[in-house]
Amino acid sequence: MGYVKAAELDELSPGQMKMVSISGKEIVLCNVDGKYYAADNFCPHMGAPLSEGELDGTDLWCPFHGASFDVTTGDVLSPPAYENLTCFPVRVTDEAVEIEIQ
Ligand code: FES
Repeated sequence: MGYVKAAELDELSPGQMKMVSISGKEIVLCNVDGKYYAADNFCPHMGAPLSEGELDGTDLWCPFHGASFDVTTGDVLSPPAYENLTCFPVRVTDEAVEIEIQ
């Protein structure tokens, strides 16, 4: 499918995130100090929407039971989740922030 527009250039400030729905997939797009990262929006523990949690630096905290993930790698950092998130490549063009979907 290739790169798909996910946000306007000035839409997310550092420390902010949002849920993006692209062809049926829900993805959380995070701005970490001006760099963008994208991962599955669903917590692998019980499916909480991670975009409704908290972003603290590179750590994304689940809103339900407090699992955390490194948004730069998708790695799970703390229980009760034990599976990593799938991450998606992100690029910034002159016009938008785009996520690559296979
Ligand atoms: S649903 Fe995320 S920690 Fe339980």
